[in-house]
Amino acid sequence: MKMGVSLLLPLLAVLMSCAAAAEPPAATADPAAQGAAIWAERCSACHDHAQDRIPPKVLIATTRAPEDIIDTLTLGVMRPQAAGLTDEQIRSIAVYLTSKQPAPRAAPDANLCKTPANPQLTPHDWRSWGNDLTSSRYQPDGGLSAAQVPHLKLRWTFAFPGRAAFGQPAVVGDMVIAGGTGARVFALNADTGCTYWSYYAGALVRTGILIGKLAATQSADHRAHIAAWFGDDKGILHAVDARDGRQLWTQRLDNHPIARLVGTPQLYSGVLYTGVSSFEEVAAADPKYRCCTFRGSLVAVTAGTGKILWQSYTIRRPASTAKAASGKEITGPAGGSIFSAPTIDAKRNLIYVGTGDSYTNVETDSTDAILALRRSDGKRMWTRQVLKNDDWIFLCKGEAAGNCPAPLGPDFDFSSSPMLMHMPGGRELLVAGAKSGTAFGFDALAHGDILWQRSLAVGTNNGAILWGPANDGVRAYFATSEYSIEQQKGPGVLYALNPLNGEILWQTPTPESPCAWGTQNCAHALLAGVSMLPGVVFAGAMDGHERAYEAASGRIIWDFDTGASFDTANGGKGYGGAIDYGGQVIAHGMLFVISGSMRQPGNLLLAFAPE
Ligand code: HEC
Repeated sequence: MKMGVSLLLPLLAVLMSCAAAAEPPAATADPAAQGAAIWAERCSACHDHAQDRIPPKVLIATTRAPEDIIDTLTLGVMRPQAAGLTDEQIRSIAVYLTSKQPAPRAAPDANLCKTPANPQLTPHDWRSWGNDLTSSRYQPDGGLSAAQVPHLKLRWTFAFPGRAAFGQPAVVGDMVIAGGTGARVFALNADTGCTYWSYYAGALVRTGILIGKLAATQSADHRAHIAAWFGDDKGILHAVDARDGRQLWTQRLDNHPIARLVGTPQLYSGVLYTGVSSFEEVAAADPKYRCCTFRGSLVAVTAGTGKILWQSYTIRRPASTAKAASGKEITGPAGGSIFSAPTIDAKRNLIYVGTGDSYTNVETDSTDAILALRRSDGKRMWTRQVLKNDDWIFLCKGEAAGNCPAPLGPDFDFSSSPMLMHMPGGRELLVAGAKSGTAFGFDALAHGDILWQRSLAVGTNNGAILWGPANDGVRAYFATSEYSIEQQKGPGVLYALNPLNGEILWQTPTPESPCAWGTQNCAHALLAGVSMLPGVVFAGAMDGHERAYEAASGRIIWDFDTGASFDTANGGKGYGGAIDYGGQVIAHGMLFVISGSMRQPGNLLLAFAPE
């Protein structure tokens, strides 16, 4: 393993000189052999020894299309690992892994709508990650009743290019907007799934979509717009006109070369607030990488023009020289990514965010923490850290090698938004879950003092509580996962908790339904964000099943298997996989579900309506 690690990510210069010295890539060159050589040199150390979140080679080889691998290396998470490779070399890795040639891309405008879009904001929309400022993920007025839920039927499906359905759709009027692989965002008609427009972002769009109104006085072109905002894997925030997908502006939120946006922006009073995260905990697995300089932050920009108003770092001081446990010179502190949408406390003019782990042994007090920031300028008002010294980078085993922190932390980020709950009797709580599998209640009135904590699942760096809970003001609903990437299986449980004390009101283990794709990688864990309407909780599972639960009892009242193959509105077949990321949203009498993730591929958006 030591050998392998030292071969990680060879220096760019070495690679370039190899390429220069080699024979020109002739038509007779065997791309698979070339791909195998690059794999051995650049990828094998991680993917042939899969652990943590690293997908094993066999999983990539059997479940990814060559186009997906090309996207991952050119636009997505493996960009730093492929730096300096030519298009032809990247293609050769894809061919080597899959034994397939990349297929031409499906036309993004295969099923254009006959009439132009005319989006209007209504109270029945789902417009942001949490559907409100408090991150409740609750739809009070979605035009769908609890009694109708057992009668939901599939109305149409849409196939994203590539093999994962990222992010979370937003729905405004008769329009649903969703990002996916292939670096594109699509706007579809909610009734039929025809395509109003698609927008090429230039990088994968992993965040959910945020929708809002821009007055003529706010926008750069002095016209009113219904706008859609989203972030990409290169750290760029995009604003487009929801009517036609025309770009209004883009803004890079952080200068770090491997910064990315995973958390959905939040809009309040003409300002967008977006959390910034990075690929540095992967890059630092290379002992040659100069670890670590990234600091997570929340960035405020004007919604109309993208002008940066302030950037508030989660880690207070910039990195300075330090020593890794191995004796190697590094810099730190670093880390504290924000992976989720911020939560707004309009009454106190505060913004709450959850932060991720630290990348080095240099101490910080603000990683794996809930932070309260002043809305006007981002000034930190309080910090509540739940786990100290959670210092973690990929491939480290707790030994003093390379950049590795020792002792190694467990990687127990807060990857989802804290929910602000106003309880009877005037209690105001922040309820949040971490990858540790622990749910917390923090006192919003007392600088985030921990009121209670409840361990719901065995923590893993894959995330025992990953994309987030929901609440209806009475109970908080948490989805949990004990998925193991090595074993490719694991159970999940949906919990209802009393937000005042963390008491478990009910729990429903995910039934062991068979997976449409077979027994391999058939897990029943719950990773996706939970969403709800009055009386009903929706949770999507890694087995591809989207299920509805009675909010009072946890009884399952509806179950649909998205894991199969479906005829799609945009032509040809699409297929579902694990439900992950943003899961599902409810709006205008319909339910929209995304199916397919890097944990079990699929490329579907599914639209349901009652019979
Ligand atoms: C330092 C370790 C490391 C190296 C080296 C590495 N990877 Fe990865 N790879 C990862 C991790 C970690 C993930 C999961 C990323 C995540 O969860 O965000 C991943 C994910 C992937 C995925 C799946 C992404 C998706 O969402 O579909 C592909 C494909 C991939 N890597 C290919 C490669 C190739 C090809 C190379 C060599 C050019 C490579 N990787 C080098 C660690 C590594």
